[in-house]
Amino acid sequence: MAFPASFLDELTARNPIEDVVGQYVALTRRGSNLFGLCPFHSEKTASFSVAPDKGIYYCFGCHKGGGPINFIMEIEGLDYPDAVRFLAKRSGMEVPEDAEYRSTYKKQERLRALCKDAARYYYNQLNGPAGQPGRDYLVKRGLSKQTVTRFGIGFAPEGWSGLMDTMTKNGYTKEELLEAGLVVKSQKGSLYDRFRNRLMFPIIDVRGNIIGFGGRVMDDSKPKYLNSPETIIFNKRKNLFALNIAKKSKQGRIILTEGYMDAISLHQYGFDCAVASLGTALTEEHAQMLAKYTNQVVLTYDGDEAGQNATRRAIPMLEKAGLQVKVLRMQGAKDPDEFLKKYGADKFKVLLERSENHAEYRLLSLQNKYDLTVDEQRIQFLKEASELVASLSNAVEREVYGTRAAEAAGITPQAMQVEVNKAYKRRTAREKKRQEQQDLDVASQRQPKEKSLRYSNLTSASAEECILRQILKEPEAMEDLKLLPEQFSAPVLGKAYGILKRCYEEGRPVTLRSLEQDLSPEEMNHLTKVVAERDELVSEQALHDCAAVVRDCYEKTALAGDKIEAMRAMQKSMIQKKGIKKKGTGGLP
Ligand code: GTP
Ligand code: MN
Repeated sequence: MAFPASFLDELTARNPIEDVVGQYVALTRRGSNLFGLCPFHSEKTASFSVAPDKGIYYCFGCHKGGGPINFIMEIEGLDYPDAVRFLAKRSGMEVPEDAEYRSTYKKQERLRALCKDAARYYYNQLNGPAGQPGRDYLVKRGLSKQTVTRFGIGFAPEGWSGLMDTMTKNGYTKEELLEAGLVVKSQKGSLYDRFRNRLMFPIIDVRGNIIGFGGRVMDDSKPKYLNSPETIIFNKRKNLFALNIAKKSKQGRIILTEGYMDAISLHQYGFDCAVASLGTALTEEHAQMLAKYTNQVVLTYDGDEAGQNATRRAIPMLEKAGLQVKVLRMQGAKDPDEFLKKYGADKFKVLLERSENHAEYRLLSLQNKYDLTVDEQRIQFLKEASELVASLSNAVEREVYGTRAAEAAGITPQAMQVEVNKAYKRRTAREKKRQEQQDLDVASQRQPKEKSLRYSNLTSASAEECILRQILKEPEAMEDLKLLPEQFSAPVLGKAYGILKRCYEEGRPVTLRSLEQDLSPEEMNHLTKVVAERDELVSEQALHDCAAVVRDCYEKTALAGDKIEAMRAMQKSMIQKKGIKKKGTGGLP
């Protein structure tokens, strides 16, 4: 749903950009702007800026930017309406919502509160007299006190109704407990606690709400893990364990594990970027979510067949979401938890760095793809393998993996090396050509980063950018600027101009944040870049010159368009005339 403009104006007024950003980033003033370390990419010098007068943030390093709502969308991983709700809550404002949304949202809020209270119950149980078995088990698994607190690990004691009794006393109904999946109905209709005598891992969404639980037995009984069922707040396809913590990591990657215990162990050993899937296969939603927080995902699935299949399935999905994928292979341990305990964090770090190129993994998959006892397939394998080996940037690696591929296919390393060298030369030639092309294309540097926003007319677009910068500084300048949004050559700039014009006419603030509602995050990033990267105030004359350029370009394209139209019309009429003539002649006696 669209929120009313007056509401959004008040929302942004009550959430000044410097306050909103200031809650996540330490800012220092420099001139009229504030600077800090960018929360969206890892950096050592501050290239992240906040301009309170413009109501925007912008990073000169990674080019992300926008208003307060965009900032919350980006940093909290929320969509537009949820970011609005987030800010409204922060500033104590009531969001004008429709009735349907209101009732679902209320229900969800209630279940979130319920899960939080349940987690508190389990946590208290772990630390109370009934929690001894849980505490013993945690010691056995080597989890520190700090880790237990950080993940809110708890304990569900023996007995059928401990949770239900406490929660109903606290005002929750049995229906609500059922709906949250914490209580189960037997065939006879009696209710009992789902989780009994289990160690409890709260599952937390990216916003920090507890939405479900995973419960582990402390012996060999089955099932080893019991998870909350799907509810109106818990969707396994859309959530990952520990992502709420990992999303803030500065390690520049996310490590994806199969098990809760693996993720938790990794955190304890200093890898605060680990997440685990919720006992289900990785989905496209997961991949897209991960892409919001990182560029690189390291897969650390088990070495067994199931784990390897899962890895093979996950790779294309992650790559499709634009992520760089690495595969970490362990020897001497079945999963990261076991590896860390046996060999320590430093050794794991070595594996992590080594996973930087997953050449070994790719080579193995290639080997599996072909039947190397069949000559034809062997040749195809060698062709692909030499391309793969040639893509490695290090000569030693090319030698090592080249030899390995040669051995697999039963040819001499020398013969392989010849093939690899050929492929390597082809590759560098391609690379060089691409570089040259890039250098030639100077104009491309003035183009938006986002492909879908590319300018069709750079001359006009530059003038349009200048106009937007100016009217954001001096909205009055719009008055005698006889320019229509549709005369803009770049749709994104025209759209922004149109909205700003309307804001001005309606007496609303003319700022970048007035655009947040109607522009996509990509469009906002681009516009912020346009505004933030240059800070000149041009003369009235220059502004009018810009407007003249835009009109001129528009008329030329319109003229060209008219000509084409006119020619089409002419052709059409000629065809028709011919048709009439034919008929005419045919009709003559
Ligand atoms: P530990 O044995 O405690 O080290 O657990 P783990 O996290 O290493 O688990 P494992 O590798 O056996 O399984 C990986 C993940 O699969 C778990 O974290 C669960 O999410 C899921 N899983 C494992 N066993 C079960 C089960 O019996 N039922 C369900 N629903 N999920 C399971
Ligand atoms: Mn394990």
